Amino acid sequence: MTETKIGAKIIDGKGFAAKLRARVTTETARLKTDHGIVPGLAAVLVGKDLASQVYVRNKNKQTVDAGMNSLGETLPVDTSGKDLLAEIDKLNTDPAVHGILVQLPLPDQIDPHAVIDAINPAKDVDGFHLRNVGLLATRRGGMVPCTPLGCLMMLEDRLGDLTGLNAVIVGRSNIVGKPMAQLLLSANCTVTIAHSRTADLPAICQSADILVAAVGRPQMIKGDWIKPGATVIDVGINRVPAAEEGKTRLVGDVAFDEAIDIAGAITPVPGGVGPMTIACLLRNTLIAACQQNDIDVPDI
Ligand code: GUN
Repeated sequence: MTETKIGAKIIDGKGFAAKLRARVTTETARLKTDHGIVPGLAAVLVGKDLASQVYVRNKNKQTVDAGMNSLGETLPVDTSGKDLLAEIDKLNTDPAVHGILVQLPLPDQIDPHAVIDAINPAKDVDGFHLRNVGLLATRRGGMVPCTPLGCLMMLEDRLGDLTGLNAVIVGRSNIVGKPMAQLLLSANCTVTIAHSRTADLPAICQSADILVAAVGRPQMIKGDWIKPGATVIDVGINRVPAAEEGKTRLVGDVAFDEAIDIAGAITPVPGGVGPMTIACLLRNTLIAACQQNDIDVPDI
């Protein structure tokens, strides 16, 4: 396949995210000029997990670049659940904080459900609180989880109306798989959620016009599992040994080099879903700041 054909098939999440961030930046500046409000995002990290540190650093930088306040905190790895809940209480009542994100996973001594339940749903820019989960499931608005929202935006940009398409999601996590299914159902797709225990996974995948891979297993989905012309969204970010001794590289859940010849379009790793997640987080923070101040939400 020629370079141009490959280029046309790759969904440029990085470029798409840059455009979304630019719109968020414009609306953030408008909010400040017209209403004197600067959206504030508090990202809370407990411990020193390397991947989480990188995510949170990127989030903090992009928050500031968009003209928002980054009010994040890093707490020691042995922080108790009680102390984290006290911290969340503080952020819940701080009027300068419009969005709260607690980076997952948390250390073992902390119950993540108790933490998510404690976040003010209006400030829950991750969309993980039971109230927001319920609102999404019943199509009544609420905060939408960032990764699946970014995937939906890229799909609609590529395919337009998704009505009637067969969507298969591989992965049933609360963060990606389940909310992705809700969003695609609302977009009138016929949705299947598959997972590591699904019988004949290759055959299920082969039925997909839209295939969303979110299992966290490096290159598990092979080229011949993909229906010719399908649109493939690869949510996986897996670090594997590189050819060069001692080095590592990032790969998705899809065997990209095989899939590129068969799919109609595919997101790369890195540069696909990842940048969209942070851009959607900034979007949600802007929306939260508007809603908390009874200001009309801009169309972004
Ligand atoms: N860990 C991996 N993805 C996410 C996410 O989207 N939000 C939070 N809070 N933690 C994560």
